[in-house]
Amino acid sequence: MFRALILSFAIGVALSVSAVPPAAAATVVSFTSVVPAPVSATATAGVTYSITSGTTIYSEPGSTPAAQTAGQLAALLRPSTGFPLPVVSSNPAPADGIALLLSGAPASVGTQGYQLDVTATSIVVRANQPAGLFAGVQTLHQLLPVTADATTVQAGPWPVPGGHIVDYPRFTHRGAMLDVARHFFTVTQVERYIDEISLYKIDYLHLHLSDDQGWRIAVNSWPNLAAYGGSTEVGGGAGGYYTQADYSAIVSYAAARFVTVIPEIDMPGHTNAALASYAQLNCNGVAPPLYTGTNVGFSSLCVPLALTYTFIDQVIGELAALTPGPYIHIGGDEASSTNATDYATFVDHVQQIVAAHGKTVIGWHNIAGATLLPSTVAQFWDTTTSNAPLAAAVANGTKVIMSPANKTYLDMKYNHKTTLGQNWAGYIDVSTAYGWNPGAYLTGVGESSVLGVEAPLWTETIVTTPNIEYMAFPRLPAIAELGWSPWSTHSLTAFNLRLGAQGPRWKVMGINYYHSTQITWPTGS
Ligand code: ACM
Repeated sequence: MFRALILSFAIGVALSVSAVPPAAAATVVSFTSVVPAPVSATATAGVTYSITSGTTIYSEPGSTPAAQTAGQLAALLRPSTGFPLPVVSSNPAPADGIALLLSGAPASVGTQGYQLDVTATSIVVRANQPAGLFAGVQTLHQLLPVTADATTVQAGPWPVPGGHIVDYPRFTHRGAMLDVARHFFTVTQVERYIDEISLYKIDYLHLHLSDDQGWRIAVNSWPNLAAYGGSTEVGGGAGGYYTQADYSAIVSYAAARFVTVIPEIDMPGHTNAALASYAQLNCNGVAPPLYTGTNVGFSSLCVPLALTYTFIDQVIGELAALTPGPYIHIGGDEASSTNATDYATFVDHVQQIVAAHGKTVIGWHNIAGATLLPSTVAQFWDTTTSNAPLAAAVANGTKVIMSPANKTYLDMKYNHKTTLGQNWAGYIDVSTAYGWNPGAYLTGVGESSVLGVEAPLWTETIVTTPNIEYMAFPRLPAIAELGWSPWSTHSLTAFNLRLGAQGPRWKVMGINYYHSTQITWPTGS
């Protein structure tokens, strides 16, 4: 059951509220608890803004996305405060209340950054673009008393610390990946993960929609893919798939949180579910059985077969039409059953297909072995700190998303006692997830060639939402901070304090996080 806490994040102490009269409840969160660390944050000592029953949330006149973000803030606060918190559009900027404005932000915050000013009479988030307002509201969310995240009315007061924040991301690409192929996760489960990742300013959700064990997206021109290829998962469970309406619902839910969905159809390997669904896609014309184990590298689409490219064109065509974001991820990893010549031919051809549907290719870094289109992005996932084909591609202009498996793979165990997950890339506790610099990690891949980072969660052993949360928290926020915060803020000691401050909020949110022994979690969280 939820128990109200008062928190002093600056010193990492929590006391039971029952010991202190409500009037004395000093529930003011410190600026030093925000994850990812802002570019600059200056607290105004002794000043707080109090959300009251009279508080109004103003949003930029004429901006539907600003009104949407204001509505999300109101929806967060109404159940816990019990206040009406009307959302209105007004001009000029009000002197009191909470205002989300698309004017007055410094140019330096760009398209995703924001300025946040908290005084005794107002909270004002300013941004150049709606995405910046959303990011500013995520910071504001983390500055609210943790009781704000409760779903039932809590005792106030509702102070927000006074001060001034100017904040914008280091990298434009800050991703999380969920493997919905090894185990299937419902729309509701994916939406919950979107809520959790967007609080940490993650702006891409990569959905690994197909693998040997399951095909998870309905394709009208190849209906057996989902109907048959989606009918199981690792361990032999019932699996599942997204109808096109389901997928569109995820895309819309994500977009409302400024998260862009990247769909992945992994090929030419990792394709047993497709090959099992259509005998004619196999070089020998024989469909293999469905697969529910966890081996990799045994399947391949038939590279010499013309039908393979009709298939890919139709699948990518339907997926591109459902996907407003710029990217289609074509996988390309662990194609051990495809010879090098076939692999290069295949990657050439698939890049052309994706381009013909107006999308940009992302592939796992193995595609650097082929000739890449100038726009194609490589996602590094190895455990090494150098990769010659990738460095050569980068010298040619290829941009990279950094997902080194021994740093960012959320399915790796924390230590030998972790029951979930795997350990082929090593154990990853917070200090390892946080302790690397994406812009200076790979030989020949400098900061200007790095689009950003992604934290993948493979789900061979991950079955439930609590499983997802246990592996993602607290490491996902570490990767989110590497993607957002300037390297000048990088400090494990300060990060550990910031991360510890998240624990009480995760407890209120019902997030099943791993209590890493590297972090001092406030008592009771
Ligand atoms: C991968 O982990 N095979 C991308």
